[in-house]
This record gives sequence, C-alpha cells and structure tokens, in this order.
Amino acid sequence: MKKIVIAIDGFSGCGKSSTAKQVAKKLGYTYIDSGAMYRAATLHFINKFTELTNPKDIQRALDSLEIAFHQNEASDHQDTYLNGLNVEKKIRSMEVSEKVSEISKIKEVRQELVAQQQRLGKHKGVVMDGRDIGTVVFPGAELKVFMTADTKIRAERRQKELLERGELVELDKIIHNLQERDRIDSSRSESPLKKADDAVEIDTSLLDFEEQICQITDLAKKKI
Ligand code: C5P
Repeated sequence: MKKIVIAIDGFSGCGKSSTAKQVAKKLGYTYIDSGAMYRAATLHFINKFTELTNPKDIQRALDSLEIAFHQNEASDHQDTYLNGLNVEKKIRSMEVSEKVSEISKIKEVRQELVAQQQRLGKHKGVVMDGRDIGTVVFPGAELKVFMTADTKIRAERRQKELLERGELVELDKIIHNLQERDRIDSSRSESPLKKADDAVEIDTSLLDFEEQICQITDLAKKKI
C-alpha cells in the first residue's frame, strides 16, 4: 500500500497531538510531535542560560542539542528525550510553554529542527503535527489538515491535561498563554503559522474526539 505524509497544523491547544497520535495508530504510521522538539529545544536553552541575542551562544546550544523519541511501554505514549534524559513531563510545564514561542521564532533553531523533521519523515508513513508542517517541512504532503477551535474550549482542554500531569493552572493564565503563542507563532517572519492553500480546515470546537479521528483517517484512506 502507498505510504503518505499527513501534516496536521493549527493553533495551540486544538488537540492536534492527541488526534495525530490516534490517526497514526489507526493507519500503522509513525507519529511525530514537532512541538515536542521545539519544547525540548526551549528546555535546553533554559538549562544552558542561552543568551538569545547572541548568535554564537545560540549555535553553541544547538550543537549540543540531541532530541529523541522513545516509546514508553507503561503509558503507551512516546516520551521525548533531551540529550539522553526523559524530559516528557518538564517540556509540558507552563515554564516551557511561556518561553517556547520566543525560542521557536529564532531562524537557526527552525533550520535545525526542520532539517531533523524532514529526515524523520523522508520514508513517508508519518503523521506530523505542528505549525509549519504543511507549508514548510512537507509542502508536498499528500494530506494537509488545519485544525482550529474556540479559545475557551482549547484552554479548558489544556487545563485538564496539565491537571492530569499534576499542575494546577488558572484558566485565565492558560487563555493568555494560548493567545500569546498564537500571536507570536502567526506573526513571526520565519515560517509563520498559517493554513496551507491546499489544507482541509477542521474546527474541533464541537467535534468529539472520535469524530476528529474518523474525519482525518477517512481523508487519508482516499489518498492511500
Ligand atoms: O504543539 P505545541 O503546542 O506543543 O508547540 C509548542 C510551540 O512550539 C508552539 O507554540 C510554537 O511556538 C512552536 N512550534 C513551532 N513549529 C512547529 C511546532 C511547534 O514553531 N512545527
């Protein structure tokens, strides 16, 4: 059977990752969370006290950045590793969420991570979610989806996720963070968040999770 690339982009907290993960599972594809890579890079920059205005400092931090994904057998999730350490929980914290969009707009960071993402998807059979997957990473992706959802609904979902990870955060703080990330992600000069012309837009505000997955797997099956 023909293997394709499925690119899922959209605003923060629309449920892209959980949807992409299940779509990949249904199709027997590999799921790649590009946001986790930007989050791991952000944690690395925090750990290294990287001076964001100094290109040499940025390059030095990137030279010592190694990101990997490993299956967590206990939770049936993929965990993100930074230089050999499992950072899955840390990269989802509010501390990282508050800094990730600033790091993600740095040209050198994007060049490095886009190259890694293209290597990970070069044999196809992948579902990758992010902000620029259908526009920059895989502009030739056979299926492109652009997900949106009402801000309050997105914030409530994110609050629940954080709580499940043991972090209690006020809804207003989460709404502010989502809006701020969307603003920075959409207005940056390097590969801004935008819908690819040939992407199918799905508003997930009123869809239940199973419906989202079915819609995308049905679209994928037509291309395979
Ligand atoms: O997908 P997630 O919300 O975990 O992504 C965290 C942040 O990483 C985004 O707000 C964005 O700043 C950055 N990102 C990006 N390009 C991607 C994926 C994520 O700039 N392809």
